[in-house]
Amino acid sequence: MATVLRAGLDAIETASRDEIAALQRTRMAWSMRHAYENVPHYRASFKAAGVHPDDFRELADLAKFPFTTKQDLRANYPFGMFAVPREKLARIHASSGTTGKATVVGYTHKDLQTWADVAARSIHAAGGRAGMMVHNAYGYGLFTGGLGAHYGAERLGCSVVPISGGMTERQVQLIQDFQPDIITVTPSYMLAILDEFRRQGLDARQCSLKIGIFGAEPWTNAMRREIEDGFAMDAVDIYGISEVIGPGVGNECIETKDGPHIWEDHFYPEIIDPETGAVLPDGEHGELVFTSLTKEAMPVIRYRTRDLTTLLPGTARSMRRIARITGRSDDMMIVRGVNVFPTQIEEQLLKSPGLTGHYQIILTREGRMDDVEVHVEARGDFIDADAHHAEAQAAVLRIKEAVGVTTRVRIHMPGGVERSVGKAVRVIDRRPKGV
Ligand code: DLL
Repeated sequence: MATVLRAGLDAIETASRDEIAALQRTRMAWSMRHAYENVPHYRASFKAAGVHPDDFRELADLAKFPFTTKQDLRANYPFGMFAVPREKLARIHASSGTTGKATVVGYTHKDLQTWADVAARSIHAAGGRAGMMVHNAYGYGLFTGGLGAHYGAERLGCSVVPISGGMTERQVQLIQDFQPDIITVTPSYMLAILDEFRRQGLDARQCSLKIGIFGAEPWTNAMRREIEDGFAMDAVDIYGISEVIGPGVGNECIETKDGPHIWEDHFYPEIIDPETGAVLPDGEHGELVFTSLTKEAMPVIRYRTRDLTTLLPGTARSMRRIARITGRSDDMMIVRGVNVFPTQIEEQLLKSPGLTGHYQIILTREGRMDDVEVHVEARGDFIDADAHHAEAQAAVLRIKEAVGVTTRVRIHMPGGVERSVGKAVRVIDRRPKGV
């Protein structure tokens, strides 16, 4: 079962599209049947939609099958979506669940092997090789980031430093002492580590890190440039979602840096119109949906991720890519009727050399009017209050021009915007609910 990294790549990574499609068809037929026969939810939802696994013959038949949503997972909390008896579970992870119940996911031993394989393939695509040292600052615990990256790095033959998130001073200390080649961490926390290097009077460009594998939250090419300049490293995008497996559903290749290739031999992607549910052709923007092809413990059929992106043809690998995720449909702010994603504001802030990627957006409502205040930190060498005022005005104009909403921008001194050690909290919505 274990993937052999022949000449560095799995054979399927460079297989023809026909070979990939043939494998997907066989695996999908298995996955459909497995879900239907072992998960009451799928039996009921297939019946309600008037479909049966026998109706699946070609990949195009997938469109007849019903979607699965986060609400379905919540309704079957905690173990109702599992297709194997509880004793067959080797591991359970869960989302923190800021609203309502946590989302629980489970893995058999074979699923953990698959996950390690795809995570290893991801780190390899990012330029990682056996023998390198990985400083893993994704959070360990119920979050899939820490353990997912950990087992992938071990599978590839790397030495792993399982530091997890937090204790930023110590992160820098261990990077200086152990000299790792690779760091795996959320992009927002990487900026906090960069600040800590500077605070300690160290030049991050001189540190040993050559590759960063960043994901778990939306980030922009402007942020990539900031990190690459700050550390003299290659910053590569990793995509993952717990319900599908965790980190390593897809990864960008270091040689092209043109969006994560989805590991389509295990996870079948579709893009749908989020309003109508219609499948959209490759190249069109919409919601990303996944069907797992090999997962035993928790197969997912047409799982709606809420992530908005585009499917693009393969480049460095035969498997298709996703464009950078502009945001989740549930992260989208509707401000005075205009749809706005935090990444759109990030892009405009980072056009200023004096500003950083540490930012937060606060929404309030005065009477009937939404108010948007953007809090952003200045760089350490940009601390003149008068210059801040001018820069803030310039950012307001850029945001108005590019995004279409009027905001107020407040520039803070370094350290003035709240940090998180995992996924950044970009939006605080204080508007009254249900109005
Ligand atoms: O965040 C898994 C992960 C860990 C991925 C470490 C990459 C690195 P969840 O907590 O289930 O799983 O959150 C999944 O995070 O639906 C996206 O909205 C967002 N996300 C993940 N990777 C990216 C990325 C992990 N590269 C949710 N770009 C997904 C943008 C991302 N958003």
